[in-house]
Amino acid sequence: MISPTELEIKLYEAYDASYQVFLKNWQVNRQVALDLMQKHLKPHPPQIAVLSVGAGPGDFDVQVISTLKQQISQELKLRYVAVEPNHLHRQRYEQKITAPEFADVDWKVHPEKVEEFWTDEKFDIIHYTHSMYHMPGYEQLLVQRAMEMLKDNGFLILTLDTTDAVIYDTIFKYAALTGEGFTEMLQMEKMQTMVDELGLSYEVVNYPEYMDVTLCFEENSSAGKALMDFFCQADSSQLSEEQRQEMLHILASNVSERDGRKLVPLPAATMMIPKPKKH
Ligand SMILES: C[S@@+](CC[C@H](N)C(=O)[O-])C[C@H]1O[C@@H](n2cnc3c(N)ncnc32)[C@H](O)[C@@H]1O
Repeated sequence: MISPTELEIKLYEAYDASYQVFLKNWQVNRQVALDLMQKHLKPHPPQIAVLSVGAGPGDFDVQVISTLKQQISQELKLRYVAVEPNHLHRQRYEQKITAPEFADVDWKVHPEKVEEFWTDEKFDIIHYTHSMYHMPGYEQLLVQRAMEMLKDNGFLILTLDTTDAVIYDTIFKYAALTGEGFTEMLQMEKMQTMVDELGLSYEVVNYPEYMDVTLCFEENSSAGKALMDFFCQADSSQLSEEQRQEMLHILASNVSERDGRKLVPLPAATMMIPKPKKH
């Protein structure tokens, strides 16, 4: 494995802090992806194998494991492999997956970036849940590789935000204001075009999600700053006060108030791509 540089380690630490705040304030709908997994899984003894790429701190993966454990008979062993280059995410992940309720799961967390990851294992399910944003230029290659890593009835699940998610406006505004950060970021519509180009068939489900951004409007709130960092995908302390107000304006103009909380829309979609049948 190629060791992360000092700069990468710092970025991983900053990302971990802001993603923790993001997760706490995210009105996320994980059920669509879980339902698709349940619907399409064709368990073959003796083992069900899942690969999670960009697994993060594991909040979603423990839901996947709990859901699959309910669905599969006890004779089937659950193998769960994760790829996660962020060391702090891996620590949180390992804390969750070592809980006694998952003692019967045969799990492994790989520290590589997916571009550097290789295994000869085959999987029933591979999922990239809100992670394909971070692999620009590799998307089609990764989808093709996933097809090769699937068992015959296996499938790939991709979850991404859709174009109208407010986070794209804030990320691109940050780049325009500072000359740093991201001027492009993957969304589901672009991903669909790429999968079309590969000639693969798929099913997509779109759904609303929201982010509670109330904290961003609190003066001198470190959690508010961490959340704003996530909306910039960069360090928001690089912004002048005037620029910060511009970012807040983008959020404010998309806010709907619910129970005294400020919510902005972050609609998402989940795509299921089955492994093509051999002719
Ligand atoms: C938005 S988080 C999603 C985490 C988790 N799947 C979830 O839904 O909560 C994106 C994840 O992708 C990971 N990631 C970024 N670049 C990656 C790469 N090149 N290979 C694998 N994972 C990567 C990040 O470390 C982070 O954990």
